[in-house]
Amino acid sequence: MRPVLCVFGTRPEAIKMAPVVRRLRETGTPYKVAVTAQHRAILDQVLDIFEIVPDYDLNLMTPDQSLADLNARCLAGLDRVIVECDPVCVVGQGDTTTVFASALAAFYRGVPFAHVEAGLRSGDLRSPFPEEFNRVAASKLASLHFAPTDLAHDTLLDEGVDPDTVLMTGNTVIDAVEIARARIAPMSLPGYDAFGLITVHRRENFGLPVQSIIAAVRDVAVARPEFGWIWPVHPNPNVKTHVHEALGDLPNVFLHDPFDYSTFLSALSGASIALSDSGGVQEEGPTLKTPVLVLRTETERPEGVHAGAAVLVGVERAGIIEKTLRLIDDAKAREAMVVERSPYGDGRSAMRIVNALTERFLGGPAPAGLAS
Ligand code: UD1
Ligand code: UDP
Repeated sequence: MRPVLCVFGTRPEAIKMAPVVRRLRETGTPYKVAVTAQHRAILDQVLDIFEIVPDYDLNLMTPDQSLADLNARCLAGLDRVIVECDPVCVVGQGDTTTVFASALAAFYRGVPFAHVEAGLRSGDLRSPFPEEFNRVAASKLASLHFAPTDLAHDTLLDEGVDPDTVLMTGNTVIDAVEIARARIAPMSLPGYDAFGLITVHRRENFGLPVQSIIAAVRDVAVARPEFGWIWPVHPNPNVKTHVHEALGDLPNVFLHDPFDYSTFLSALSGASIALSDSGGVQEEGPTLKTPVLVLRTETERPEGVHAGAAVLVGVERAGIIEKTLRLIDDAKAREAMVVERSPYGDGRSAMRIVNALTERFLGGPAPAGLAS
């Protein structure tokens, strides 16, 4: 039987596709995995932890790669994989260059494309950049759309997507957290009663926003020396160099190489607050009951903000300092941000996705005993 071809390239796609790959494996569904390796080291960390061995590895990452060059190489490489693999459908996740190129490569070869985490929109093509475009383009090219929330589902219908092709599944990142949960132990920071966790990597934050975020972290760290900070720094040189130069001397700021997924979730779980521009962290924070201060002016994930589990703090130094200090100092305000149920899913998203792939593309009912 022709296989389902799962394609991903970056850390967050790998984390969110891992539960789907696992479900395909458990149900004996024919599948192959192709990685573009748009990321290398931080992709491999995820492959190791979820025990995924790719059937195809394009090994594309180059230092400080440009969007155009990466996209061209992804498209050409994935075209070759699709021809060789002859899949029944291609499945991609999210909003990266890899997902855009996967959707386009599948379209060019007349292979159906199924999009995991479909329908998120900021409404601004420039932010997140270029992810908003990638996600909109993937929706145009997809034959099957797996929406992670009701809002994403309704957005796709509002855009005129055929309702028969849209399924609300929840976000597979919650499945990933549940798979990792046995290995999560809330981290503590020796010498500190409490700490915050920071991640920053978004392209639209490069330059002045990153500098003002770093300046704000510095000011907060100096103002509250008894509160620690852990920052596993993203390897993108547009972030890494500045962070190490500007914060390397502060005793209560601990800069690390990227953590593996279990270690990261342990840090997030043990942190009093998270300061982040990451998509995945906005979704994981509520599940692990850690308030998230979102270092962005908008978000295509408003559900966490609406639930009260996340706050948009922008990228201006003064605003970040004020809102961060308020949460550090006010335990009640932090507690008020803890939600009982994640707005992003119930941990059964991969099952719904694999059921739908089986019914739609493999010509049969969902695997026995796997009712949604
Ligand atoms: C990419 C995605 C972004 C996603 C993010 C998750 C695009 C356009 N961007 O951004 O949507 O949120 O990944 O982290 O698809 N690097 C390494 N080692 C690694 C990974 C990256 O050294 O393991 C460095 C390389 O110099 C690389 C650079 O980071 O060229 C940028 O990587 P790239 O994937 O182009 O962009 P990200 O900013 O990581
Ligand atoms: N993450 C990780 N190690 C780290 C930092 C993040 O495993 O040191 C995980 C995190 O749990 C989340 C994902 O990486 O699931 C987020 O990736 P990133 O912030 O790079 O991308 P985004 O989600 O914004 O696309």
